[in-house]
Amino acid sequence: MFDKVDQINKELQSAHATNPQELEAFRMRFISRKSLISALFDDLKAIPNEQKKAFGEALNQLKTAANEKFKSLLEQGQSIDSKRSDTIDVSLPPIPHQMGGLHPISIVKNRMIEIFERQGFNVSEGPEMEDDWHNFTALNFPEDHPAREMQDTYFIERNPDKLLRTHTSTVQIRLMQNGTPPFRSIMPGRVYRNEAISARAHCFFHQIEGLYVDRNVGFKDLKQTIYHFAKEFFGKETNIRFRPSFFPFTEPSAEVDISCFICKGSGCKICKHSGWVEIGGSGMVDPNVLEQCGIDSQEFSGFAFGMGIERITMLKYEINDIRLFSENDVRFLRQFNGV
Ligand code: DAH
Repeated sequence: MFDKVDQINKELQSAHATNPQELEAFRMRFISRKSLISALFDDLKAIPNEQKKAFGEALNQLKTAANEKFKSLLEQGQSIDSKRSDTIDVSLPPIPHQMGGLHPISIVKNRMIEIFERQGFNVSEGPEMEDDWHNFTALNFPEDHPAREMQDTYFIERNPDKLLRTHTSTVQIRLMQNGTPPFRSIMPGRVYRNEAISARAHCFFHQIEGLYVDRNVGFKDLKQTIYHFAKEFFGKETNIRFRPSFFPFTEPSAEVDISCFICKGSGCKICKHSGWVEIGGSGMVDPNVLEQCGIDSQEFSGFAFGMGIERITMLKYEINDIRLFSENDVRFLRQFNGV
């Protein structure tokens, strides 16, 4: 038995630990509850009484020796660590910090806001989940009107309906209901449609809406506002044209086209050889819509317009697939930020 104590003592005296794993191995072998030394303490019971005292003392000495050795190995380890940190080369260049950047949709949205703000528009926002009244009825979409079909969406609850808004025109309603004219606001935001996803369409996208209501607002004001925007955003040579169209909430209504800023009107793939590209819808606010919001349509008139931010971004940067905006591929996104 005493031989065993000697043997363990020799082994622990010659032990080394150059890393935390070896230190832990030492602790397990000599110090822990399951160590060789603990096992010897268990054997103490079986030792004849006359030897118990001497063996007990030898074991206690062994235990102290193990603890001291562990302490010295620990100290050695710490001094190795501190030497290591002394040798860190602080002159090495750091790992480059990755700066985030704005998404192209945000870049274009901010630029559009900037242009309209300089024309006196402020920014209004509204919820993405809406009721039927704000998304359709107040905007003069009669129940069962085919215009609703074109804007099918995701219904969260039925009767009464809660749905994801199909356009930011809902914010026009909220604005007019809660205030008094004049209103001169733009309304950026995300919208949803029940669309099969393709390169040209997605089930969610972004729009920016504009609304101007005051006394004596006419079509000329709409024209000038859009004209100014198009020139600022797409370039000085840009021309605009209004094509008659239909929206339930405006009368008259028009689709807005700009002259193709890529081929300058001579015909290319982007403008499908027509020389014109569509950028949004517009019109004079239907008197029914003003009345729905408690505004006297005899006294006030207004214009409104709506543009798809994805569409404007795709035109501006010649991007041919709308899905790229939501795939989060940094190789695509990086191109807009120079990072
Ligand atoms: N809300 C229309 C849409 O989503 C776009 C639009 C057209 C908005 C004409 C308007 C407008 O404010 O006057 O297709």
